[in-house]
Amino acid sequence: MRKFIHPLSIVILVLSILLSLPLILSKKEIKIYTDDELRKKALSSNILPTPTSYKGLLQIADNPQNILTPDKIALGKKLFNEKLLSKDKDISCASCHKLQQGGDDNLAVAIGHKNRANPSHLNSPTVLNSALAKSQFWDGRAKDVEAQAGGPIQASFEMNMQAKELIQRLNAVPHYVQEFQKIFQENISFENIQKAIGAYERTLLTYGDYDRFLEGNNSALNPKAKRGMALFMTKGCRGCHTGTSIGGQSIQKFPLRNYLSDYLGMIISPDIKLKNSPFPFENHGGFMGYNDSLRFRVPLLRNISKTAPYFHNGAITDLNETVRIMSKYQIGEEFTPTQIDEVVEFLKTLDGKIVEYNITN
Ligand code: HEC
Ligand code: HEC
Repeated sequence: MRKFIHPLSIVILVLSILLSLPLILSKKEIKIYTDDELRKKALSSNILPTPTSYKGLLQIADNPQNILTPDKIALGKKLFNEKLLSKDKDISCASCHKLQQGGDDNLAVAIGHKNRANPSHLNSPTVLNSALAKSQFWDGRAKDVEAQAGGPIQASFEMNMQAKELIQRLNAVPHYVQEFQKIFQENISFENIQKAIGAYERTLLTYGDYDRFLEGNNSALNPKAKRGMALFMTKGCRGCHTGTSIGGQSIQKFPLRNYLSDYLGMIISPDIKLKNSPFPFENHGGFMGYNDSLRFRVPLLRNISKTAPYFHNGAITDLNETVRIMSKYQIGEEFTPTQIDEVVEFLKTLDGKIVEYNITN
């Protein structure tokens, strides 16, 4: 006697295979990478180790329009720490960019002249490694660190200083007059102030465990950090956070994916307040990035564990939550809590010490 197979059971069988396909495929995806494979992935996406020799630094950080010299760098260092650059003589660049604390101020929003907060609720990014970025500021509006340095000096809510007054002030300090003459063969000018500061910033590169790993030291990263690195390198993070600075190379949309459905959910739910917005940029300062298009200069991830809070408006304090948001909205694959932990363990290996270059002529 032939058994009758109900057509519905075939449909159910096919359906269940189809439905479990993503699961089977994703199981397959959990691949363990060898140390060499991991390194290859990083190096092939141009995430290179920070050079530790001055020659190596010049190769990646010198500016043909502002050639580095030991004297210029030394002058830039003084100016970076000089409170005369601010109207009330109380703020230097280092007030908001503390080099021993990750190169930023750890405040959600920067506070400048007469305790004024940044009007767009912008967070101070780190200056460490920022010279390696292709553009500066959260919207990428300055082309390099030299151009950038002019902004905060004159901004009313930062140092609130007029170029003319600053030049007069520095002209009253004999050692500055001499140093500018010697280095630029010119009187003090606003442009040369920017150049000296930029030159110094070009030497502020950091080196840490991640660089040690890239240079062949397998034990520089623990197994958890290596799993996080594998996620970072294979799930799409490196597509945006790339280069030796692990960011800063392009301007990208944020949020990129899964945006509309969350937004709709927010609108139709009656008891949702704006503060629960899944898009932390909306309720803080209204800054919309490059050309108001919700595109932002991709931040640098070196020293990220020390530069909380996160995002352009400092809306998120927790690095795990930051990584979750990135996974959901930027790569479209929300990480599990374990995966997030692993990625954060990896991100911690991007911390580093400022390299003390043997600066020569
Ligand atoms: C009041 C705090 C404050 C002071 C003082 C300050 N900055 Fe900043 N800095 C910020 C903020 C906020 C941003 C981001 C602003 C934006 O994107 O519009 C920033 C951005 C930067 C960046 C861009 C980094 C990147 O990755 O895009 C650099 C470089 C920088 N500052 C250097 C300096 C220098 C040099 C000085 C002194 C001349 C200085 N800052 C003074 C708060 C400050
Ligand atoms: C499509 C490009 C893109 C991808 C892919 C991407 N990011 Fe980002 N990331 C950005 C942008 C743009 C920002 C800044 C957003 C803002 O401040 O509003 C950012 C911010 C961050 C920050 C906060 C930085 C800071 O200084 O505040 C971290 C941490 C981060 N990303 C990690 C990751 C990780 C981990 C992944 C992979 C899961 C990833 N990103 C994938 C573009 C991207």
